[in-house]
Amino acid sequence: MSLVVLISGRGSNLQAIVQAGLPVVAVISNRADAAGLEYARKRGLATTVVPHKDFATREAFDEALAREIDRHAPRAVANAGFMRILTPGFVARYAVRIVNIHPSLLPAFPGLDTHARALAAGVKLHGCTVHFVTADLDGGPIIAQAAVPVLADDTVAALAARVLRQEHVLYPRALAWLLGGKLVILDGRVRVEDPDEKQFLFAPDA
Ligand code: GAR
Repeated sequence: MSLVVLISGRGSNLQAIVQAGLPVVAVISNRADAAGLEYARKRGLATTVVPHKDFATREAFDEALAREIDRHAPRAVANAGFMRILTPGFVARYAVRIVNIHPSLLPAFPGLDTHARALAAGVKLHGCTVHFVTADLDGGPIIAQAAVPVLADDTVAALAARVLRQEHVLYPRALAWLLGGKLVILDGRVRVEDPDEKQFLFAPDA
C-alpha cells in the first residue's frame, strides 16, 4: 500500500502528503533542481531524477519514468506539481491509480496560469481539483474539490496562496481515499465510499 510522488518544483504538496502520514516510498522529478527533492532527501525518502531533456521523445521519457516508478511497485502514483504532459500509453499503464492536483475548479481553467485566468475571467469562486489522470489533459474523473472566494483586490500571488492552503488539505485526504480503496468510478464519475467524508471543501474565510 504505497505511493510514488512525481514532482517538478517546490514540492509543497509533497510535504503535505508526507506530513499527513501517507506511505510515500519514492519521489521522482523530471528536474534535478526541484526544491522538493531536497525535502524528500532530508526525510530519508528515495529520490530519483529522470531529466526529460535527456530523451528525444515523450514516449522515451515516459518509458524511463515508468521503469523508475515500477521499481517501487506502488499502489498509486500522485502527480504533485509534475509539469509534464503524459503519453496515452503511460496513462493507460497506471489507469485508475494515477492522480493529479490541479489549481482550478475543473473543468474551468485546464492548463497553465490558472490563477491569472481566473482573475481575468472575473470568477467569484476559484479553487483546486484532485482528479484521476487520463489521456485527456486535466480532464479525468474528478475525485474532490476545494473552493475559495476570489476577493476584489486579489493579486495572482494572493489567490494562488489561498488556493494552495486548500490543496494541502484536499490532496492528502483524496489520496487516503484512493489508497484505502474508497473510490469507485461509475460512468466517468467518482463516488467516494465513505459516507462521513465530504468530497469538497469550502473555505469562505480563507
Ligand atoms: C500546485 O499549485 C499544483 O496544483 C500545480 O502546481 C503547483 C505545485 O506546487 N499543478 C499544476 O499546475 C499541474 N498542472 P508544489 O510543487 O508546491 O506542490
